[in-house]
Amino acid sequence: FMYDGLIWIPFPGLYPEPEKKFKQIRDMECRDSDVFLCSFPKAGTHWTHEILSMLLSGSVQYNQYNTIENMLEADSTLDKINSAPSRRLLITHLPYKYLPEQLQNGTGKIVYVQRNPKDLHVSMYNHLKGKGIMKEGTTWNEFIDQIFTGKLKMLGGWFQFSKDWEIEINIKKNILPLYYEEMKQDGTGNILKTAEFLNVPCKNEFAMEVADQCSFDKLKNNKLDYTALLDKNRKSTLFRKGQVGDWKNWFTVAQNECFDALYDDEMKSSNLMFTFEQ
Ligand code: A3P
Repeated sequence: FMYDGLIWIPFPGLYPEPEKKFKQIRDMECRDSDVFLCSFPKAGTHWTHEILSMLLSGSVQYNQYNTIENMLEADSTLDKINSAPSRRLLITHLPYKYLPEQLQNGTGKIVYVQRNPKDLHVSMYNHLKGKGIMKEGTTWNEFIDQIFTGKLKMLGGWFQFSKDWEIEINIKKNILPLYYEEMKQDGTGNILKTAEFLNVPCKNEFAMEVADQCSFDKLKNNKLDYTALLDKNRKSTLFRKGQVGDWKNWFTVAQNECFDALYDDEMKSSNLMFTFEQ
Protein backbone atom coordinates (compact mmCIF):
# COMPACT_ATOMS: atom_id res chain seq x y z
CA PHE A 1 0.00 0.00 0.00
CA MET A 2 1.05 3.60 -0.48
CA TYR A 3 1.93 5.91 2.40
CA ASP A 4 4.18 8.96 2.58
CA GLY A 5 4.91 8.54 -1.14
CA LEU A 6 6.37 5.03 -0.65
CA ILE A 7 5.15 1.51 -1.40
CA TRP A 8 4.96 -0.47 1.86
CA ILE A 9 4.66 -4.16 2.56
CA PRO A 10 1.26 -4.59 4.24
CA PHE A 11 2.54 -6.00 7.54
CA PRO A 12 -0.42 -6.61 9.83
CA GLY A 13 0.57 -3.94 12.37
CA LEU A 14 1.41 -1.26 9.86
CA TYR A 15 -1.76 -1.35 7.91
CA PRO A 16 -4.42 0.15 8.00
CA GLU A 17 -3.37 3.01 10.35
CA PRO A 18 0.15 3.83 9.22
CA GLU A 19 0.20 7.39 10.53
CA LYS A 20 -0.55 6.30 14.09
CA LYS A 21 1.82 3.39 13.83
CA PHE A 22 4.75 5.45 12.54
CA LYS A 23 4.28 7.93 15.37
CA GLN A 24 4.31 5.06 17.89
CA ILE A 25 7.55 3.78 16.40
CA ARG A 26 9.15 7.23 16.35
CA ASP A 27 8.24 7.87 20.00
CA MET A 28 9.16 4.41 21.24
CA GLU A 29 11.40 4.21 24.31
CA CYS A 30 14.73 2.65 23.49
CA ARG A 31 17.23 1.12 25.88
CA ASP A 32 21.03 1.17 25.72
CA SER A 33 20.97 -2.62 25.66
CA ASP A 34 18.62 -2.83 22.64
CA VAL A 35 19.79 -4.47 19.44
CA PHE A 36 17.98 -3.53 16.25
CA LEU A 37 18.49 -5.69 13.19
CA CYS A 38 17.80 -3.52 10.16
CA SER A 39 17.80 -4.42 6.48
CA PHE A 40 16.13 -4.14 3.13
CA PRO A 41 14.00 -7.29 2.73
CA LYS A 42 15.89 -10.31 1.30
CA ALA A 43 19.33 -9.09 2.38
CA GLY A 44 19.79 -12.03 4.79
CA THR A 45 17.68 -10.82 7.72
CA HIS A 46 16.63 -14.23 9.08
CA TRP A 47 20.15 -15.61 8.87
CA THR A 48 21.58 -12.61 10.71
CA HIS A 49 18.73 -12.73 13.20
CA GLU A 50 19.61 -16.31 14.12
CA ILE A 51 23.27 -15.34 14.58
CA LEU A 52 22.38 -12.35 16.77
CA SER A 53 19.97 -14.40 18.83
CA MET A 54 22.69 -17.02 19.48
CA LEU A 55 25.23 -14.35 20.40
CA LEU A 56 22.85 -12.70 22.84
CA SER A 57 21.75 -15.97 24.45
CA GLY A 58 25.23 -17.51 24.46
CA SER A 59 23.83 -20.78 23.13
CA VAL A 60 23.58 -22.39 19.72
CA GLN A 61 19.86 -23.15 20.03
CA TYR A 62 17.60 -21.90 17.25
CA ASN A 63 15.05 -19.43 18.52
CA GLN A 64 11.51 -20.71 18.75
CA TYR A 65 9.48 -17.78 17.53
CA ASN A 66 8.42 -16.14 14.33
CA THR A 67 10.70 -13.17 13.63
CA ILE A 68 7.63 -11.10 12.76
CA GLU A 69 6.76 -11.03 16.49
CA ASN A 70 9.77 -8.80 17.10
CA MET A 71 9.30 -6.60 14.10
CA LEU A 72 8.56 -2.95 14.84
CA GLU A 73 6.22 -2.40 11.93
CA ALA A 74 4.38 -5.70 12.39
CA ASP A 75 3.56 -5.45 16.08
CA SER A 76 0.13 -3.89 16.06
CA THR A 77 0.49 -1.88 19.28
CA LEU A 78 4.15 -2.24 20.29
CA ASP A 79 2.84 -3.20 23.77
CA LYS A 80 4.58 -6.55 23.66
CA ILE A 81 7.84 -5.03 22.49
CA ASN A 82 7.62 -2.21 25.04
CA SER A 83 7.20 -4.61 27.94
CA ALA A 84 9.73 -7.20 26.78
CA PRO A 85 12.71 -7.80 29.09
CA SER A 86 16.23 -6.62 28.14
CA ARG A 87 18.20 -7.31 26.00
CA ARG A 88 15.67 -6.92 23.27
CA LEU A 89 16.44 -8.08 19.75
CA LEU A 90 14.16 -6.18 17.40
CA ILE A 91 13.84 -6.25 13.65
CA THR A 92 12.80 -3.72 11.07
CA HIS A 93 12.86 -3.10 7.32
CA LEU A 94 12.08 0.60 7.81
CA PRO A 95 14.00 3.25 5.92
CA TYR A 96 16.33 5.01 8.40
CA LYS A 97 14.23 8.14 8.88
CA TYR A 98 11.30 6.15 10.29
CA LEU A 99 13.34 4.59 13.12
CA PRO A 100 12.68 5.54 16.76
CA GLU A 101 14.07 8.98 17.53
CA GLN A 102 15.95 7.75 20.60
CA LEU A 103 17.69 5.10 18.48
CA GLN A 104 18.61 7.73 15.90
CA ASN A 105 20.08 9.75 18.76
CA GLY A 106 22.29 6.87 19.90
CA THR A 107 20.29 4.82 22.44
CA GLY A 108 20.61 1.18 21.39
CA LYS A 109 22.70 -0.53 18.74
CA ILE A 110 21.95 -1.30 15.10
CA VAL A 111 23.21 -4.20 13.03
CA TYR A 112 22.50 -3.36 9.39
CA VAL A 113 22.81 -6.17 6.88
CA GLN A 114 23.05 -5.53 3.15
CA ARG A 115 23.42 -7.62 0.02
CA ASN A 116 24.33 -7.10 -3.61
CA PRO A 117 21.17 -5.83 -5.31
CA LYS A 118 21.18 -8.33 -8.18
CA ASP A 119 20.87 -11.37 -5.91
CA LEU A 120 18.58 -9.40 -3.64
CA HIS A 121 16.11 -8.68 -6.44
CA VAL A 122 16.15 -12.32 -7.59
CA SER A 123 15.46 -13.36 -4.01
CA MET A 124 12.69 -10.76 -3.78
CA TYR A 125 11.03 -12.01 -6.95
CA ASN A 126 11.03 -15.60 -5.70
CA HIS A 127 9.78 -14.54 -2.29
CA LEU A 128 6.90 -12.40 -3.60
CA LYS A 129 5.97 -15.13 -6.05
CA GLY A 130 6.26 -17.95 -3.51
CA LYS A 131 4.14 -16.07 -1.01
CA GLY A 132 1.52 -15.24 -3.63
CA ILE A 133 1.99 -11.49 -3.00
CA MET A 134 2.72 -10.76 -6.65
CA LYS A 135 0.05 -10.96 -9.34
CA GLU A 136 -0.37 -14.60 -10.39
CA GLY A 137 1.81 -15.46 -13.38
CA THR A 138 4.13 -12.43 -13.13
CA THR A 139 7.33 -13.39 -14.91
CA TRP A 140 10.88 -12.45 -13.94
CA ASN A 141 11.08 -10.23 -17.04
CA GLU A 142 7.97 -8.34 -15.95
CA PHE A 143 9.26 -8.00 -12.41
CA ILE A 144 12.73 -6.69 -13.29
CA ASP A 145 11.17 -4.37 -15.86
CA GLN A 146 9.21 -2.74 -13.05
CA ILE A 147 12.49 -2.16 -11.20
CA PHE A 148 14.01 -0.58 -14.32
CA THR A 149 11.03 1.67 -14.96
CA GLY A 150 10.75 2.61 -11.28
CA LYS A 151 7.19 1.29 -11.00
CA LEU A 152 8.02 -1.08 -8.15
CA LYS A 153 9.86 0.99 -5.57
CA MET A 154 9.15 -0.96 -2.45
CA LEU A 155 10.17 1.07 0.62
CA GLY A 156 11.35 3.77 -1.77
CA GLY A 157 13.35 1.24 -3.78
CA TRP A 158 16.62 -0.50 -2.90
CA PHE A 159 18.78 2.32 -4.30
CA GLN A 160 17.32 5.15 -2.24
CA PHE A 161 16.99 2.95 0.84
CA SER A 162 20.67 1.95 0.66
CA LYS A 163 21.93 5.47 -0.02
CA ASP A 164 19.99 6.86 2.95
CA TRP A 165 21.39 4.17 5.23
CA GLU A 166 24.92 4.74 3.93
CA ILE A 167 24.82 8.37 5.03
CA GLU A 168 23.92 7.30 8.58
CA ILE A 169 26.48 4.46 8.67
CA ASN A 170 29.18 7.02 7.89
CA ILE A 171 28.26 9.31 10.78
CA LYS A 172 26.71 7.14 13.50
CA LYS A 173 28.78 5.05 15.90
CA ASN A 174 25.90 2.78 16.92
CA ILE A 175 25.58 1.07 13.51
CA LEU A 176 27.50 -2.05 12.47
CA PRO A 177 27.18 -2.67 8.73
CA LEU A 178 27.40 -6.32 7.65
CA TYR A 179 27.56 -7.61 4.09
CA TYR A 180 25.83 -10.86 3.09
CA GLU A 181 28.69 -11.78 0.76
CA GLU A 182 31.33 -11.25 3.47
CA MET A 183 29.29 -13.32 5.90
CA LYS A 184 29.26 -16.14 3.37
CA GLN A 185 33.00 -15.88 2.87
CA ASP A 186 34.07 -15.47 6.49
CA GLY A 187 31.21 -16.43 8.80
CA THR A 188 33.36 -16.77 11.93
CA GLY A 189 35.17 -13.46 11.39
CA ASN A 190 31.90 -11.58 10.97
CA ILE A 191 30.41 -13.24 14.05
CA LEU A 192 33.43 -12.25 16.15
CA LYS A 193 33.20 -8.68 14.85
CA THR A 194 29.49 -8.57 15.67
CA ALA A 195 30.06 -9.97 19.19
CA GLU A 196 32.62 -7.27 19.86
CA PHE A 197 30.23 -4.58 18.63
CA LEU A 198 27.48 -5.93 20.91
CA ASN A 199 29.85 -6.36 23.82
CA VAL A 200 29.06 -10.02 24.31
CA PRO A 201 31.67 -12.63 25.23
CA CYS A 202 32.46 -14.87 22.26
CA LYS A 203 35.40 -17.23 21.99
CA ASN A 204 36.65 -18.36 18.61
CA GLU A 205 35.19 -21.89 19.09
CA PHE A 206 31.76 -20.51 19.93
CA ALA A 207 31.83 -18.21 16.86
CA MET A 208 32.70 -21.25 14.73
CA GLU A 209 29.81 -23.24 16.23
CA VAL A 210 27.39 -20.37 15.59
CA ALA A 211 28.62 -20.06 11.98
CA ASP A 212 28.13 -23.79 11.48
CA GLN A 213 24.71 -23.94 13.11
CA CYS A 214 23.62 -20.94 11.01
CA SER A 215 25.02 -22.26 7.73
CA PHE A 216 22.51 -22.26 4.92
CA ASP A 217 22.10 -26.05 4.81
CA LYS A 218 21.57 -26.36 8.56
CA LEU A 219 19.07 -23.52 8.69
CA LYS A 220 17.20 -24.84 5.67
CA ASN A 221 16.99 -28.37 7.04
CA ASN A 222 16.60 -27.77 10.76
CA LYS A 223 15.08 -24.37 11.35
CA LEU A 224 11.35 -24.17 11.18
CA ASP A 225 10.25 -21.37 8.85
CA TYR A 226 7.46 -19.92 10.96
CA THR A 227 6.31 -17.67 8.16
CA ALA A 228 5.55 -20.78 6.07
CA LEU A 229 3.12 -21.91 8.76
CA LEU A 230 0.98 -18.88 7.97
CA ASP A 231 0.90 -19.86 4.32
CA LYS A 232 -1.73 -22.10 2.87
CA ASN A 233 0.83 -23.98 0.77
CA ARG A 234 3.41 -23.84 3.58
CA LYS A 235 6.20 -23.03 1.19
CA SER A 236 9.40 -21.68 2.71
CA THR A 237 11.03 -18.87 0.77
CA LEU A 238 13.24 -17.72 3.62
CA PHE A 239 15.85 -20.39 3.00
CA ARG A 240 15.74 -20.77 -0.77
CA LYS A 241 19.21 -21.02 -2.35
CA GLY A 242 21.49 -18.88 -0.21
CA GLN A 243 24.12 -18.18 -2.87
CA VAL A 244 26.18 -15.30 -4.14
CA GLY A 245 25.79 -14.96 -7.91
CA ASP A 246 22.46 -16.75 -8.43
CA TRP A 247 21.45 -13.62 -10.38
CA LYS A 248 23.38 -15.03 -13.34
CA ASN A 249 20.69 -17.70 -13.69
CA TRP A 250 18.03 -14.99 -14.02
CA PHE A 251 19.38 -11.82 -15.66
CA THR A 252 19.72 -11.85 -19.44
CA VAL A 253 22.80 -10.08 -20.85
CA ALA A 254 20.60 -7.08 -21.75
CA GLN A 255 18.99 -6.99 -18.30
CA ASN A 256 22.41 -7.14 -16.68
CA GLU A 257 23.65 -4.21 -18.78
CA CYS A 258 20.53 -2.27 -17.95
CA PHE A 259 20.95 -2.97 -14.24
CA ASP A 260 24.62 -1.94 -14.31
CA ALA A 261 23.71 1.34 -16.02
CA LEU A 262 20.95 1.99 -13.46
CA TYR A 263 23.33 1.13 -10.61
CA ASP A 264 26.05 3.44 -11.92
CA ASP A 265 23.57 6.26 -12.25
CA GLU A 266 21.76 5.78 -8.95
CA MET A 267 24.87 5.02 -6.89
CA LYS A 268 27.29 7.58 -8.32
CA SER A 269 27.43 9.42 -4.99
CA SER A 270 27.87 6.16 -3.05
CA ASN A 271 31.01 4.42 -1.80
CA LEU A 272 29.25 1.12 -1.19
CA MET A 273 31.14 -1.84 -2.64
CA PHE A 274 29.25 -5.05 -3.31
CA THR A 275 30.54 -8.43 -4.34
CA PHE A 276 28.43 -9.77 -7.18
CA GLU A 277 30.05 -13.17 -7.52
CA GLN A 278 32.19 -15.48 -5.45
P1 A3P B 1 17.81 -16.48 -1.68
O1 A3P B 1 16.38 -16.24 -2.00
O2 A3P B 1 18.75 -15.86 -2.67
O3 A3P B 1 18.13 -17.92 -1.44
P2 A3P B 1 15.69 -12.41 4.27
O4 A3P B 1 15.90 -13.24 5.48
O5 A3P B 1 16.18 -11.00 4.42
O6 A3P B 1 14.31 -12.50 3.76
O7 A3P B 1 16.66 -13.01 3.14
C1 A3P B 1 16.41 -14.25 2.55
C2 A3P B 1 17.62 -14.66 1.74
O8 A3P B 1 18.70 -15.05 2.62
C3 A3P B 1 17.32 -15.88 0.87
O9 A3P B 1 18.11 -15.73 -0.30
C4 A3P B 1 17.83 -17.00 1.76
O10 A3P B 1 18.05 -18.22 1.09
C5 A3P B 1 19.12 -16.38 2.27
N1 A3P B 1 19.66 -17.07 3.45
C6 A3P B 1 19.00 -17.48 4.55
N2 A3P B 1 19.83 -18.11 5.38
C7 A3P B 1 21.05 -18.10 4.81
C8 A3P B 1 22.34 -18.60 5.18
N3 A3P B 1 22.53 -19.26 6.32
N4 A3P B 1 23.36 -18.41 4.33
C9 A3P B 1 23.19 -17.76 3.17
N5 A3P B 1 22.00 -17.26 2.76
C10 A3P B 1 20.95 -17.43 3.56
